[in-house]
Amino acid sequence: MSALQKVMGWVDDRFPLTATYKAHLSEYYAPKNFNFWYFFGSLALLVLVIQIVTGIFLTMNYKPDAELAFTSVEYIMRDVDWGWLIRYMHSTGASMFFVVVYLHMFRGLMYGSYRKPRELIWIFGVLIYLALMAEAFLGYLLPWGQMSYWGAQVIVNLFAAVPFIGEDLSIWIRGDYVISDATLNRFFAFHVIALPLVLIALVAVHLVALHEVGSNNPDGVEIKKHKDANGIPLDGIPFHPYYTVKDIVGVIVFLMVFSAIVFFAPEMGGYFLEANNFVPADSLKTPAHIAPLWYFTPFYAILRAVPPMFGSQFPGVVAMGLSIVVLFFLPWLDRSKVKSIRYRGPIYKIMLALFLVSFIGLGYLGLLPSTPVATIFAQVFSVIYFLFFLLMPWYTSIDKTKPEPERVTG
Ligand code: HEM
Repeated sequence: MSALQKVMGWVDDRFPLTATYKAHLSEYYAPKNFNFWYFFGSLALLVLVIQIVTGIFLTMNYKPDAELAFTSVEYIMRDVDWGWLIRYMHSTGASMFFVVVYLHMFRGLMYGSYRKPRELIWIFGVLIYLALMAEAFLGYLLPWGQMSYWGAQVIVNLFAAVPFIGEDLSIWIRGDYVISDATLNRFFAFHVIALPLVLIALVAVHLVALHEVGSNNPDGVEIKKHKDANGIPLDGIPFHPYYTVKDIVGVIVFLMVFSAIVFFAPEMGGYFLEANNFVPADSLKTPAHIAPLWYFTPFYAILRAVPPMFGSQFPGVVAMGLSIVVLFFLPWLDRSKVKSIRYRGPIYKIMLALFLVSFIGLGYLGLLPSTPVATIFAQVFSVIYFLFFLLMPWYTSIDKTKPEPERVTG
């Protein structure tokens, strides 16, 4: 027995190292037909790590103080060795997180990955998405630029629209009557420790749930239905080395795109870093046009599409909240006989296409100042957004599906 085997044996008698490695990597069987849509889970993990590591280094020089925050970020950009790189990786990482997660979620919609028995994977996913939105919103206040300040002002003021308790609620969130140093301190605390912990815990349970039931695949068929004499799925391949190697391809392509942005276009034309945020926060000067970053704009457009009632924005706030809450119910709204888009009928395909167009349309409209014409478009898109979910039990049960194959198809 080699020295290494002896050490491993010693560890294994005290900690299930080899057993865990086998159960989750070398003897974890994943469907053999994953396509590129299956890159985005591991890429989301990669971005999470990038955000945590760059975040730790940013925290070493950032000052969560209304007097110092803006200049401390400028200091990081100009004076700290490699500070510009760390900061641009973190700001680009924030947007790329959403790019990756949106594609990851869309994959779920295409292949019915949220369906039984993967409901909990999906629910944990939606919770991750909520935590991610909170994390991005809180982080955006930290550079203490004009957009940080006024964006936070607009969003926290939405809580003031809640009947009866709204005013108190918004003061409680801010810790002041306006966004101030107290707000910056608490947002910092949540951004650097509370929410990252929540995110990591949620990702952990997301993966535990995934490994309990196994991955879905582009055919939407369950590989566990057909096993060989040793209980290994006939259409499964060990995650390691096959998918670890495949995922490296995704990682390399991703890092090429990521680096191109970080090095050549870190502001991404104002979509990843807004010009107005290079101006220090000024509580006496409201910017002419306040818009959130692109990943929030679909929901911002839904908020603005709903007209105020009795002078209160509350209906819009509720619509915005429901547009995310409805995602939780998806596993039970879909009544189709098949999971994957490959075997679905035309109605689902049309509905999914309309949903996609509406979501992107809302995202675009949310970036623009609101005009009467833009509002009408936003209203139409919002209605389509909700109908995709609300009519789903009906159209998925009448849709003409093709028979699902028994085994995966290449
Ligand atoms: C930090 C964010 C996230 C991370 C790190 C993450 C990680 C992963 C990983 C590694 C996988 C397996 C590989 C793959 O199928 O691509 C996976 C699968 C899955 N994730 Fe996520 N995820 C995240 C967010 C989300 C969100 C926001 C949703 C949905 C709302 C979601 C829903 C799913 C579903 C349904 C699966 C199973 C897919 C299938 O088997 O077809 N995830 N996730």
